[in-house]
Amino acid sequence: MMRQSIASLTEKISFRIGLLIVIALVILAVSVLWISRSEPAADDQLADLLRQAGVVQLDFGPVQDPAQVALGQSLFFDKELSGNRDTSCATCHHPLLWTGDGLALSLGTGGDGLGPTRVKGDGRAFVPRNAPEVFNRGAPEWRTMFWDGRIIAQDDQTLLTPAGIMPLTQINNVTAAQAMFPPTSADEMRGHPGDIDVFGEPNELARIDGDDVEAIWAGLMTRLLAIPDYQPLFQAAFPDKSLDDLTFHDAAKAIGAFEIAAFTFTDSPWDQYLAGDMSALSDEAKQGAILFYGNAGCVRCHSGNLMTDQQYHNIGVPHIGPGKDEAGVDNGRFLETENPADQFAFRTPPLRNVALTGPWLHNGAYDSLETVVRHHLDAANSLLAYDMSHLAPELQITCRGDAAMQEAILETLDPLMLAPTPLTDAEVGQLLAFLHALTAPSATSLAHTLPDSVPSGLPVRD
Ligand code: HEC
Ligand code: HEC
Repeated sequence: MMRQSIASLTEKISFRIGLLIVIALVILAVSVLWISRSEPAADDQLADLLRQAGVVQLDFGPVQDPAQVALGQSLFFDKELSGNRDTSCATCHHPLLWTGDGLALSLGTGGDGLGPTRVKGDGRAFVPRNAPEVFNRGAPEWRTMFWDGRIIAQDDQTLLTPAGIMPLTQINNVTAAQAMFPPTSADEMRGHPGDIDVFGEPNELARIDGDDVEAIWAGLMTRLLAIPDYQPLFQAAFPDKSLDDLTFHDAAKAIGAFEIAAFTFTDSPWDQYLAGDMSALSDEAKQGAILFYGNAGCVRCHSGNLMTDQQYHNIGVPHIGPGKDEAGVDNGRFLETENPADQFAFRTPPLRNVALTGPWLHNGAYDSLETVVRHHLDAANSLLAYDMSHLAPELQITCRGDAAMQEAILETLDPLMLAPTPLTDAEVGQLLAFLHALTAPSATSLAHTLPDSVPSGLPVRD
């Protein structure tokens, strides 16, 4: 009796185990089938969308001359380029801050400290705009620089710049041309008349008339070539020129070469996916890409291989900061064209590594990527409901949230922003997963791009 019941019990148990194994196998088979069916579906769908949008792998541009890169690295980190010898390019485009400064609006000469804790100098103003990242600026597609496109490559082998027309024989690309202008800006690097430098000496660059950029560039070269350690660096970078023939254009070419060599990255999951590795992207990010290039309509402006049309759109960003004109307003592209349709329009930013480079937008209005995405989905209401509480108190007082300003901004809102884009929370999550997949693992730590010292001997690590 006892033995019988044990035997039937064992039989029952082994029957149940068998049944469980069969069920598990069926579930496994079904899920393998389901995964193998759904994955190619997402990839196929995405391939179609990318084909329609004409998006292929980004051409990251030519390899830069090592001697120019070496000179450019020194110049990029050297505060000698600023009138008061207290500000370098890296102050606002710091490798430890992913080539930005972590601030909504930048703080130039006279400021103290680095990154989000940097404080404004006495009597100084905020720079009116957010410092953009400078990743991948060697891609040949780049034809514009600045939020308002005040440097533009034209079809006739010349660049239109704030200093007039520059032929491409004089300066090799828009990135190099851009590097000529920060040292001419009084608030960013040059300083104001009467300033004294960090050694208590008069700032000779600040005394030059701001419109006379040629004299400012000549003054910068006089400074640089007076430093013995710069001479061999310049000679190696430009072996065909004598020291006397060098101009600040050459310094700017070297700075551009360094930016391109140091801050170009091809290893984001998205770039690997575009290169043919279908497993580089998570399922969620793939769904996000399908939205980005499909129903969410992001590709209408973040188009092409750079993810920007390099055109100007007013997407209803709240007005923050001291502005650019006498009325304290930053009218964006309008300042360049005076075309009323360009009021409050700013250049569509590229998006690689965007998860690293907050605060976002031309004035750092938002400090969370999710808020930036949600703003795009219902721009007008987002502008009206703007909450500035996360901004530094000094910036809150510069916010222009009055009805007249909101109305002015909404008047030229881009037609693509008029109708809200309804997405579920899960879809917003997918878009964010896609934006995170634009981060190159090798861009997450850039400390190795910092030099130990620069020829002037000025500090590089603060
Ligand atoms: C005080 C902060 C500050 C300093 C110093 C500074 N920048 Fe910038 N940079 C900015 C801001 C702000 C902008 C955006 C200005 C605009 O678009 O009107 C900008 C724009 C740029 C851009 C344009 C990117 C694009 O695609 O539009 C590049 C490249 C750049 N800076 C490189 C440099 C270099 C090189 C130097 C040194 C020669 C330098 N910056 C010095 C704050 C700074
Ligand atoms: C009408 C054109 C347009 C469309 C459509 C569009 N964007 Fe933008 N986007 C812009 C412009 C222009 C800016 C910068 C605006 C400014 O700063 O004033 C921007 C900024 C951004 C930024 C911040 C980048 C930075 O470095 O500050 C992100 C992220 C972004 N867009 C993602 C998206 C996503 C996701 C979508 C789709 C849901 C989308 N965009 C749709 C034009 C557009």
